[in-house]
Amino acid sequence: MTTHQNQADRKIALITGSSRGIGLAIAKKLLADGYRVILNGSNNTQLQQVHEQMAQQYPLVDAMSANVSDEDSVAQLFQQIENIYTRLDVLVNNAGISPRLNGNKPTVETTPTDHWVQTIAINLTGAFFVTRAAIPLLKHSKCGRVIQIASQAGQMNTGFASAHYATSKAGLIGFSRILAGELGPLGITVNFVSPGKIQTEMAATYRNAAAVEQAYIDRTPMQRIG
Ligand SMILES: NC(=O)c1ccc[n+]([C@@H]2O[C@H](COP(=O)([O-])OP(=O)(O)OC[C@H]3O[C@@H](n4cnc5c(N)ncnc54)[C@H](OP(=O)(O)O)[C@@H]3O)[C@@H](O)[C@H]2O)c1
Repeated sequence: MTTHQNQADRKIALITGSSRGIGLAIAKKLLADGYRVILNGSNNTQLQQVHEQMAQQYPLVDAMSANVSDEDSVAQLFQQIENIYTRLDVLVNNAGISPRLNGNKPTVETTPTDHWVQTIAINLTGAFFVTRAAIPLLKHSKCGRVIQIASQAGQMNTGFASAHYATSKAGLIGFSRILAGELGPLGITVNFVSPGKIQTEMAATYRNAAAVEQAYIDRTPMQRIG
C-alpha cells in the first residue's frame, strides 16, 4: 500500500475489480488524467502484481484488496481508505462475474444455485455494500461521482447472457436510479454505463467466444466490439 497524503488536491477514485479488464482500463485513464486511483480485486496476489507494474508509470496508484460481496471485507477496505485519504471523489462499481457452465451460458433450468447466489452477491449486493460504505466519504467530496458498470444484458435479451447475470445487472440499474435520487440533492451524481461486448478475460470465457464476438460485431453499427 502506498500513501500520497501530500497530494491532497488530487481527486481520489476507487474502482472495484480493477486488477484487469475494463476496471484496469478505467484506472489507467483516470491515472493519466491525474487522479489518485485505488485499484481493487479479491485476489490479492494478482492485485499486487498489477499494482507493482502500474506504479512504475503512475506513482499515484494504490491497491487495496477486498471481496466486494463480503460485508466485513468492504468495511475493512473503507477503514483503510478513510485512514489514508479521508474522502472519496469517484466510486466505480465495476467488479463483476459471469459464470458459465462448461463454457456455455446456463439456462434458468440448468443454473446451479451457487452460481446464482454468487453472481447476485458480487454484481449486485457487492455494489450495495461498497456504495453504502462509500457514501460518508463521498459526502466529504466537492464533486462526488458514482459510476455503475452495468451491461446491455440488464436492459435487453442480448441472446448471450444468462439469467443470473442479467438479473444482477437489471438490479444494479434499479439500484442506481434510487441512489441518484438520494444522492443528487447532496451534489453526488450517479450514472450507469451498459457496455456491449468488450474484449476482456470475462468475454473470452465462452466456449464459442469467436462466434459470440462475430454476432456482436454483426449487430453493432461500428462493426467492431469494444
Ligand atoms: N467484458 C464485457 O464484454 C462486459 C460487457 C458488459 C459489462 N461488463 C461488466 O464490466 C465489469 C468488468 O468486466 P470485465 O470484462 O473487465 O471482467 P474481468 O476481466 O473478469 O475482470 C473482473 C474484475 O472484477 C474483480 N472481481 C471479481 N470478483 C470480485 C469480488 N468478489 N470482489 C472484488 N473484485 C472482484 C476481478 O478481480 P479478482 O478476480 O481478483 O477478484 C477483476 O479485477 C463487470 O461488472 C462486467 O459485468 C463486461
